[in-house]
Amino acid sequence: MDQLIIQGGATISGEINISGSKNSGLPIIAATLLASTPMYLSNLPQLKDITTMLSLLRCMGVDIVVDEKMRVEVNSSTINEFEAPYDLVKTMRASILVLGPMLARYGKADVSFPGGCAIGSRPVDIHLRGLEAMGAEIHVDGGYIRATAPEGGLRGAHFFMDTVTVGGTENLLMAAVLAKGTSTLENAAREPEIVDLANCLVAMGAKIEGIGTDHLVIEGVERLEGCEYSIMPDRIEAGTYLTAAAASRGSIKLKNAHADTLEAVLLKLEEVGADIEIGEDWISLDMHGRRPKAVNIRTAPYPAFPTDMQSQFTALNSVSEGTGTVSETIFENRHLQVHELNRMGANITLEGNTAIVRGVERLNAAPVMASDLRASASLVIAAIVAEGETVVDRIYHVDRGYECIEEKLQQLGVNIRRASSKKT
Ligand code: EPZ
Repeated sequence: MDQLIIQGGATISGEINISGSKNSGLPIIAATLLASTPMYLSNLPQLKDITTMLSLLRCMGVDIVVDEKMRVEVNSSTINEFEAPYDLVKTMRASILVLGPMLARYGKADVSFPGGCAIGSRPVDIHLRGLEAMGAEIHVDGGYIRATAPEGGLRGAHFFMDTVTVGGTENLLMAAVLAKGTSTLENAAREPEIVDLANCLVAMGAKIEGIGTDHLVIEGVERLEGCEYSIMPDRIEAGTYLTAAAASRGSIKLKNAHADTLEAVLLKLEEVGADIEIGEDWISLDMHGRRPKAVNIRTAPYPAFPTDMQSQFTALNSVSEGTGTVSETIFENRHLQVHELNRMGANITLEGNTAIVRGVERLNAAPVMASDLRASASLVIAAIVAEGETVVDRIYHVDRGYECIEEKLQQLGVNIRRASSKKT
């Protein structure tokens, strides 16, 4: 199992490129199942989850060619299996995103039922109820969701989501674009990744109104064509590097980063004391050597503060002046980093779903263990600013969401290397 070994005490300084978005790449790969002709995707990040999604399509018979720049050609007309097997779904919950497209295009799908994960129970009831509203028959058997569309295919439906769900909105949007008639999705999620997916579907010939709002109106079409599509930059990767730079009292410039997808995070970084400048496709942050000030965070669906950025701010607050609270409202168990940060000398107490973070002058290196993707990003930030050498174990979690993390941090002046741990 790989580890990251980080010599703390660096002040981040420099410029890096932000990769394509994992959470937009995953549904867009699923959307290629809807196209009658080949699709060409670019700016996909080289990440484990992306290769898992491509493997999932491949194991269903889809023809995929990946070039050295991660430009991917997908020809889904060769599909001959309609099952997303347990072995792949158990490693990546986002596999559920093939359900809507397979039902819409082929009228059937068997998808292994995703279980809970470290950060919460994460049910998929809204995905299933929305598809049932479009006429699908769904039952669960042997750990699989077995779904069939009615004779003549899915029918457009009016569907209200009683919880804002990113994956649910994506699945239902992908089902609705080929359903007969009009669908309306109410209380839809508005995350930039959903806008990216919707833009891709429109480029394929879909008719969608209300993109970027919580009220999506979809007029089903007969068929969708393949197109060329470039995935948006990863806003969470961008936010993570900005937060690391702020924690280290440093400065950073991100290229291929869209500030308009990160407003809530940038606002908080300004409150922390950072000078932020933005351009059309870049963001820069400078702390001018100042110690950050602790801030209060409350996560909520977009455009509010993203749950995927709260653990990084917990690390930032840990070395800030004053006390900040970090309240998680989306997932039940997303403060996994707290106990590891406390092992490094942080002063954090948990009250329900709120972490109360009292800033300390400095953190101290310690062996720590990553437990989920964003929690591990917070440990890397803590290690960068800690005194001494920190070993972050189980970094396969980091590798799910951060392309070339060592190379990028080295470019920013951090002393970091990857090693294999002796024990597993
Ligand atoms: C997406 O997960 C992201 N994953 C997550 O990214 C992100 O944390 C999350 O959205 C919230 O922004 C991908 O895009 C691949 P949800 P998703 O459905 O779609 C409840 C990362 O670190 N819910 O919006 O699974 C659910 O339990 C991650 O990159 C239901 O109750 O999240 C949660 O409390 C991990 N019923 C809330 O909604 C449902 O049917 C939001 O979950 C569906 C969801």
